[in-house]
Amino acid sequence: MQFIVDQQVEDIEMPENLKLNTFLKEFHSDCPHTECSFGLYGFAFGQSPFPVPKIVQEALIKNVGKGAYAAVPGIPELRNAISRYNKHYFGMDIAPERIYVGPGTKELIFNLLEILHGTVILPTPAWLGYLPQIRLLKKNYHMLPARANQKISPTDLKKLSLRLQDRQKILILNNPHNPTGLLHDRLELEEIADVCREQNIIVISDEIYAQTTYDFSKFVSMGKIYPEGTFVTNGLSKSHAAGGYRLGYVIFPHHATDLKRQFKKILATVYTAVSTPIQHAAIAGFEISKEMDEYFDVTRNIHQIMGEYTYHALSAIEGIKTTKPDATFYLLADFNAFATELQKVNINTSQKLSEALIVHPYHTAIVGGDSLVLERTDFSARIAYVDYDGAKVYQNYLDNKPKLSSERIEFVKNNAPKVVAGIEMICRFFKDIRKESWNNSQTQKNSMVTSS
Ligand SMILES: Cc1ncc(COP(=O)(O)O)c(C=O)c1O
Repeated sequence: MQFIVDQQVEDIEMPENLKLNTFLKEFHSDCPHTECSFGLYGFAFGQSPFPVPKIVQEALIKNVGKGAYAAVPGIPELRNAISRYNKHYFGMDIAPERIYVGPGTKELIFNLLEILHGTVILPTPAWLGYLPQIRLLKKNYHMLPARANQKISPTDLKKLSLRLQDRQKILILNNPHNPTGLLHDRLELEEIADVCREQNIIVISDEIYAQTTYDFSKFVSMGKIYPEGTFVTNGLSKSHAAGGYRLGYVIFPHHATDLKRQFKKILATVYTAVSTPIQHAAIAGFEISKEMDEYFDVTRNIHQIMGEYTYHALSAIEGIKTTKPDATFYLLADFNAFATELQKVNINTSQKLSEALIVHPYHTAIVGGDSLVLERTDFSARIAYVDYDGAKVYQNYLDNKPKLSSERIEFVKNNAPKVVAGIEMICRFFKDIRKESWNNSQTQKNSMVTSS
């Protein structure tokens, strides 16, 4: 029996984050060199390293017996808690009826793209999750490349929008941003919102990293700036280190009653509701409490310390430019200054660069440019600085909070030795590339001299 798969499914590729596992297995075979028994330096996985907050774990255990189906948009206690959470942390008054809970924001973004008519505007670089969804839904889309500052330019947004024929357009805004770690501030969001109002652009504002903003007072939700046209998504995955719980939520614009009805139909048709015990556990994560407040505070401070170190250490390497993260646990490193040297040793694409870095003696995993919706030949990469034991580091931070800059550097050296060593490996790799490419050109020159 031969099974025929629909063409649009054939056409999409495995999402890059899942491809990464296969790639690492394929290229990082167990190394015979004893000094390489550490495995690899993991800058590739975008996962919070901390334990799920204790009060969330306890709530899950307590509610494990709740086997009944939940209401489609989520249980009322959870929608109420999310409403209070948004008021407390983001200063937004959101009626619980505007909040729909789903199995992760990835699914909710997919469902939104499914029901909203319009051409999608995808700013790049971008999180690797959006594009396969847009392709699967066969939606029209256009990229909006960032300017040199790696942010969305309102002027470029307007220019692009004027070229599009659609009555309605959908901008995917990811703030704070994966992979650059940058935050669009209030003023920048206001300028984007002005264009969106004028051009009838709806915004899906993916704010999954909001709580990780290092100077939290700087975070402003697009839901506050452009409430009439923004769908805000957020959830447990990054702020609560609970990606595996699969729980996210979307806030609808206040007048979107009919749209909510359509959305509910889709949810009911596709997955009914999020697991009931998980919803009860999530209440503990969204209720305002001393425990959660401390958790957000400690985890964002540790991300900041690791980010500062990674930024300074990478930018100290001649030729490497990186974004200076305001949030998240990522930065974007630009290796394009090495393009000529890389090409000389047959590394012509970002995929090839990732492969060259994962093999002996470097054993360093990064996410290369084409996985970030950049050109295949763009030698930029996302560096996730989370390769450490989150539970231990959390406790060490509480025991002795590093304040001075020298103490913060010491903290990284003591608590995240693989981050430190991985950056040294990247440095060594590019030194070797320079040497090898120079040797290659010398050999070429010599052979030209002997043959002439
Ligand atoms: C920008 C961004 N949005 C959404 C997600 C997925 O979130 P969820 O686990 O809620 O589906 C991720 C996860 O890596 C992400 O980086």
